[in-house]
Amino acid sequence: MAILELVIEPDPRYNRISDRLRQKSEPVSEVTPELQQLARDMHETMLAEAGVGLAAPQIGRNIRLVVIHLPKGYQDEIDEEVNLTLFNPEIVKAGGRETDYEGCLSFPDLVGPVERYSWVIVKGQDEDGKKVRFRAKGILARVLQHEIDHLDGVLFFDRMDSLGLLFYPHEVEAGEEEAEETVTA
Ligand code: NI
Repeated sequence: MAILELVIEPDPRYNRISDRLRQKSEPVSEVTPELQQLARDMHETMLAEAGVGLAAPQIGRNIRLVVIHLPKGYQDEIDEEVNLTLFNPEIVKAGGRETDYEGCLSFPDLVGPVERYSWVIVKGQDEDGKKVRFRAKGILARVLQHEIDHLDGVLFFDRMDSLGLLFYPHEVEAGEEEAEETVTA
């Protein structure tokens, strides 16, 4: 197991970010032992960084692989711990809209309100390369959308009406409270 180096980018309000997180990632044609190990290392990295999701481009690999971990009781919403490794994840159906605060491990501490689908049906392959298809709602649906966006070079603030809605919770009044509800992926 290993903790991988994260791709970290500057505050997009004031700096031009590099194109490292802007690539369209390549499909995974075969789930090899090397990629299974990479997925395990991504899980370890995500946990070490206290994130709930991580996409391969965030550790410098432009392949369609995401990992998600939502602990039991997370934001009073998660009944059962969620541990997911998904190769080639794809949203096949989605509906509803809701807005919540999000952050991204590649933009440390920065948060903003992002409107997303409130439920999704996702298909892909699990850690063994087996085909999976499932429905998710709430926080899990949000994290899935955030991570799958990463695979297309789309970042959470691209989904916001304005970059001006980004903030650092410690810099604004009542921000700490909002930050507690932030989904960082
Ligand atoms: Ni992210």
